Amino acid sequence: MGRVIRLEDLEVLVCCGAGGVGKTTTAAALGVHAAAHGRRVVVLTVDPARRLTQALGLPGLGHEPRPVSGVGGAGGGSLDASVLDMRQTFDDVVRAHAPEGTAHRVLDNPVYQTLSTSFAGTQEYMAMERLGQLRDEAAATGRWDLIIVDTPPSRTALDFLDAPRRLGAFLDGRLARTLARPARMGGSVLEATLGRLVGRGLLADVRAFVSATDTVFVGFRDRAEATAGRLRQPGTAFLVVATPERDALREASYFVQRLHEDALPLGGVVVNRVVLGTGELSAGRAEAAAEQVSDPVVAALLRVHADRADTARRQQRLVRAFRSGRPGLASVQVAERPDVVDLPGLAGLAEDVLAPG
Ligand SMILES: Nc1ncnc2c1ncn2[C@@H]1O[C@H](COP(=O)(O)OP(=O)(O)O)[C@@H](O)[C@H]1O
Ligand SMILES: [Mg+2]
Repeated sequence: MGRVIRLEDLEVLVCCGAGGVGKTTTAAALGVHAAAHGRRVVVLTVDPARRLTQALGLPGLGHEPRPVSGVGGAGGGSLDASVLDMRQTFDDVVRAHAPEGTAHRVLDNPVYQTLSTSFAGTQEYMAMERLGQLRDEAAATGRWDLIIVDTPPSRTALDFLDAPRRLGAFLDGRLARTLARPARMGGSVLEATLGRLVGRGLLADVRAFVSATDTVFVGFRDRAEATAGRLRQPGTAFLVVATPERDALREASYFVQRLHEDALPLGGVVVNRVVLGTGELSAGRAEAAAEQVSDPVVAALLRVHADRADTARRQQRLVRAFRSGRPGLASVQVAERPDVVDLPGLAGLAEDVLAPG
């Protein structure tokens, strides 16, 4: 149903979708593939599974991109990998945008230190900020020509796109003003109560934080919007990842619709972990044959096949329903495979993603 993306046309690729569908794996796999085809790639992962970091040979994967050995090389390609570090990214944002000499007022504040990683939407937004930082670094140094970004396992599809606005609203001072109110009432019963509840020290920290955010985060929302706006630049594409299950496909539909509404460039949908290649022998016939044979091992194998064939049929029904409702949408099916935990396996998965669909 049409190719989802052509990597050679892209400079930025964002993998999104529900949790656990294979976003991180897909991002890493496409990175491996592109590097093997001569691109200089950096992959920003979010919460990579331990086995994936092992596959990339990077047990100590962190904020700073590190070269993955064993990919690229001869063709001039290279792969660097990193993990999103929200705190570090947030600190960098503060440093980059606080007026001269004011960043420390936020960075040193205990309230910031506690809350910076737990504001609603922080992780989603920081993934976008980190993308911006990597993009700036790529432009300045020429170190990368393709940035692949994985996104956090958002509870709902909307979190990821709403985060900049929500976080921007917070840091622009709306919540800050609300928090500051008891302070203005001075000596009020409310303040005394608050002080007892949260401790006077903390209340003072909150006030200091509130007044610091007022100076440091002026215009943050505009910046957040601008960051989101950069996602509409040419050479950028979104890939929505799903699994062949009702909930994941429904989530994928929301993403597709939302990307469309926000005029963000959608490449297409990757239906990952599909049971493929169960061949001609139907579930019913395998089950019937299992009843007939006397060898228990053969009977067990036939039942395993019947199970897989049944799953495959159910999955294809869901995929067909999903596709038929969206005729213009490019989508591709990617096989469930045993070997996504090493580099050749990842490269194989990427071949599936990039197939004509
Ligand atoms: N095509 C596939 N075949 C088999 N296992 C897969 C496949 N894609 C992903 N997985 C496995 O599914 C799990 C979730 O994948 P992950 O990439 O971490 O998802 P997400 O980033 O969307 O939360 C991991 O254990 C991964 O190894
Ligand atoms: Mg992930």
